[in-house]
Amino acid sequence: MAYNNLLLEERETTLVITINRPDQLNALNRQTIEEMNKALALADVNPEIRVIIITGAGEKAFVAGADIKEFAAFSVEEGRLLSRSGHKLLFDFVENMSKPVIAAVNGFALGGGLELAMSCHIRIASENAKMGLPEVSLGVIPGYGGTQRLAQLVGKGKALEMISSAAMISSSDALQWGLVNQVVPLSELPITAEELAKKIARNSPAAISSAFRAVLSGYKKGVNGFETEINEFGICFGTGDFKEGTSAFVEKRKPVFSGK
Ligand code: COA
Repeated sequence: MAYNNLLLEERETTLVITINRPDQLNALNRQTIEEMNKALALADVNPEIRVIIITGAGEKAFVAGADIKEFAAFSVEEGRLLSRSGHKLLFDFVENMSKPVIAAVNGFALGGGLELAMSCHIRIASENAKMGLPEVSLGVIPGYGGTQRLAQLVGKGKALEMISSAAMISSSDALQWGLVNQVVPLSELPITAEELAKKIARNSPAAISSAFRAVLSGYKKGVNGFETEINEFGICFGTGDFKEGTSAFVEKRKPVFSGK
């Protein structure tokens, strides 16, 4: 599969997807969103891949937002469609992947860029990274899930401040606010993300998938997260991974999980 705006690299069981439009600070245009959807859909069904890392090309930006030049002349209907299709193809898609997705935030993560990082399950940022939702400075609002996911991660008060001020925050503030999980020097970002991916890859893919469904269900209106947990817990008992994990424990050896 050939991509114009992405670089894909498989490192053992990790797929690294690099958004590759550095001259436009990796802004998300329609083509990039479609390519991301294809790459992620293929990774989700590829049994060789256990964890996905998303990062940006160059040293300046993770993703500097949705492509402003592409949507500047859109109508109300086109604006609504842009948001709806973005949710479906990329932002909800990432969050609902059956495999863990790590955002390696290597620079500016603004607007759609921060929304993409927030859709990922885990965020590691470099010390130089700057994050914000500056949409209101353009006369629009975050339209790729930012109004919801930012409040979930940092709380309503800080989310309303970040969105209304359109201000960028440093990665150390983002760490303090719970927006990112870790901050490391830029030079250590790729290895830190890969080491975490390797640690995750040793565990049962089926159980991780179940656990993510249970956690995420608690954020869905009208869904009881505890009920989802009970159901997913039961499902684990029917998996090969559960048999392998418990047998390996009893036999005092390392488990080899198939993900089934
Ligand atoms: N959409 C489209 N193009 C973008 C972009 C975006 N979100 N962000 C950056 N670019 C482009 C610039 O237009 C410029 O392209 P050009 O050289 O063809 O003119 C190129 O990327 C480099 O950006 P530039 O603004 O020159 O870099 P800078 O270092 O001076 O500033 C930023 C960096 C991130 C502060 C600035 O680019 C910016 O504010 N970007 C928009 C952020 C934003 O509002 N995102 C939310 C969108 S909803």
